[in-house]
Amino acid sequence: MTTVELLKECRLEFEEYFQSLVTGSPDNQQRVEDIRAHSLRVAGNSLLLAQNLLQTEEDKHIAEIIALFHDYGKAVMIVQGTESPINIQHNHAALSAKLIQQMGFYPKLSADVQLIILKSIEGHNKLKLPKLDNEQQTLFARLLRDADKLDIFETSYRFFKEKYGTQPLMAMDLINHVEISDKIIKSVLAGKTAAVEDMKTMNDYRLLLLSMAFDLNFKYTFRILSEKQYIQKIYETLPKRDLIIDAYRGIKLFVENKFVS
Ligand SMILES: [Fe+2]
Repeated sequence: MTTVELLKECRLEFEEYFQSLVTGSPDNQQRVEDIRAHSLRVAGNSLLLAQNLLQTEEDKHIAEIIALFHDYGKAVMIVQGTESPINIQHNHAALSAKLIQQMGFYPKLSADVQLIILKSIEGHNKLKLPKLDNEQQTLFARLLRDADKLDIFETSYRFFKEKYGTQPLMAMDLINHVEISDKIIKSVLAGKTAAVEDMKTMNDYRLLLLSMAFDLNFKYTFRILSEKQYIQKIYETLPKRDLIIDAYRGIKLFVENKFVS
């Protein structure tokens, strides 16, 4: 059983583990703090989605635990300071899943719940969610992906628009150039989420963010996306060129159809 007591233990361990991450670099320390704050917001988003998607209190606890620790490996990799942003992006989920297994609360969970947590965390940064063992695992993994993306939309658009917060890690190595890369725009026009490794410029990153809408899973997520106007807001930070306008129209139509259907 994932009881309230166990959830409290998880929240405590979350704080303790993040507090243990100390680095000599103020920039990196800020990034660790950003990941901690992001994880808490993803936990909030997960509970919001869970109200619609999950039935029991126990399931809601599981969704919260997954969200709290999904990016812990990313914070650890930043403190270690040896990996490039693209490697961190690709490898942090597996590390989070490995580290969570060493935490005090983990052995107290049932085997089924342990697997749900591991599979959800391992799959959250993949371009497409791999096929999982059962419906439960798939549901929680999808919920994390949507909750995570909602916060990525929120923080990146605020960074672009209001210059609020630190530069997103995924965009660290990108050049601030107006060009957009062929592979990125082709993916978006084909209705697919663009791949992180194809990005070269900040505008590629903005387009990649827009294309994440193609990978959302739940009607309720589309509703939040629509209400918050994330797609419009990110689009406003892009240059108005024909291909970009086409891409935006395609995504907007896709979102509107999901929202009304
Ligand atoms: Fe995340």
